[in-house]
Amino acid sequence: MKKINSKRLFFANNAGKIYIETYGCQMNFGDSEVVLSILKNHGWEITQLPTEADLILVNTCAIRDNAELRVWGRLKELKFYKKKNPALIIGVIGCMAERLKEKLVEKEKAVDIVVGPDAYRDIQKLVALAAHGKLAINTLLSREETYAEIAPVRLDKNGVSAFVSIMRGCNNFCSYCVVPYTRGIERSRPHDTIINEVKELMLNGYKEVTLLGQNVNSYKDNEIGFPQLLEMVANLAPNLRVRFSTSHPKDLSDDVINIIAKTPNLCKAIHLPAQSGSTRMLELMNRKYTREWYLERIATIKRVVPNCSVTTDIIAGFCSETLEDHLDTISLMKEAGSDFAYMYKYSMRPDTKAHKTMTDDVSEDEKTRRLNEIIATQSALSLESNKRDIGQVFEVLVEGESKRSNLRMYGRSSQNKVVVFDRLETQVGDYVMVKITSCTGATLLGELV
Ligand code: SAH
Ligand code: SF4
Ligand code: F3S
Repeated sequence: MKKINSKRLFFANNAGKIYIETYGCQMNFGDSEVVLSILKNHGWEITQLPTEADLILVNTCAIRDNAELRVWGRLKELKFYKKKNPALIIGVIGCMAERLKEKLVEKEKAVDIVVGPDAYRDIQKLVALAAHGKLAINTLLSREETYAEIAPVRLDKNGVSAFVSIMRGCNNFCSYCVVPYTRGIERSRPHDTIINEVKELMLNGYKEVTLLGQNVNSYKDNEIGFPQLLEMVANLAPNLRVRFSTSHPKDLSDDVINIIAKTPNLCKAIHLPAQSGSTRMLELMNRKYTREWYLERIATIKRVVPNCSVTTDIIAGFCSETLEDHLDTISLMKEAGSDFAYMYKYSMRPDTKAHKTMTDDVSEDEKTRRLNEIIATQSALSLESNKRDIGQVFEVLVEGESKRSNLRMYGRSSQNKVVVFDRLETQVGDYVMVKITSCTGATLLGELV
């Protein structure tokens, strides 16, 4: 039992102001929007200022150790808000909440409530418990929960592009990965609720949706699989752009590639994380494909959809990775010619298969060295990819003013590359044609045509 504060007791039956902070992947950002929607229905008012909040929620990520360290640092800072406002309730939600459960409260006394990713409907009840000074923890995982009918409160600022969650959890158990433990088993959201959410977004002026899941290719709602869902969403309107993430290479089917080829508003961009270029490593990672399989998928994409961009994730220094394995990764990157990559040093996560059965035996220095080589390889590939676009014309969906100057705008091409150009008459949400005139490794620069 914690000390009961009378101002805090007020929140046992009343709503106040909620401030939420989100770490981690897009799924987590989507979840924050669901949590806000649930609390709003209980009367809570959303604030952008932690100083005026009665309830602060931190939606956390557990994917790598440094992601967790960031959250611990932030929780220490949030303690000071409590000094100024002792009635303040602080909650940790998301993947770290699921992984650490009551350990979070034990280690960080400022934490009042802990809520796992499948328990968000319970959040008002947990706030009331905390207001009474009681331990408020719910980290039960569910086999069914998809928050299917909850309309998320949209936090993305541009009002043009939105993320739509189509499934939760993951059944793949890659040996390095904590997600199946923090998010539970895979389940798909009923397709009609997805279609309704996208229609609602269109009514509110959105022009682009990204369908989200840890492995979207295994989406299944009775007879509707991922290819069917993609077609249904893309058929809603010809000027709605449709993207999706993430595809697992073992499940990316020819059907999906063919649908991308024949559907103009399905964006020509596939995020296909390789993780490693060594078949031995891929087997240890439990990825269920080989180097050759991955390269074959890339070759098929390039053959069927020649203007498709492909992006990837790479892990440096997984358990027992030799120099030869690492060089296989570098050569795979070059052969696949990824347009962009997220690149990470391997971080051993408790409870995973790697933690139980393997040794984290690549030294920190060597991981850093290998990661730097991977980053240098990708920088060269990204620059080459951008240079190939010079002289070409792309349709760009305008998302906002360029950070550097309000005389310029930025948006994205179908290939998901950022394009910056002179503003002239363009507005956010317009589709414009831009001819690329120059580039950096990260951005294309062009002029309206
Ligand atoms: N479901 C997605 C990825 C989710 S996590 C997929 O399978 O592609 C995002 C990325 O984090 C992964 O692709 C992987 O590259 C990286 N990652 C996951 N666990 C990691 C770990 N323990 N250490 C380092 N990187 C990790
Ligand atoms: Fe993690 Fe693998 Fe699932 Fe992706 S597919 S979330 S890397 S276990
Ligand atoms: Fe996402 Fe991090 Fe959880 S990447 S699924 S928030 S562990």
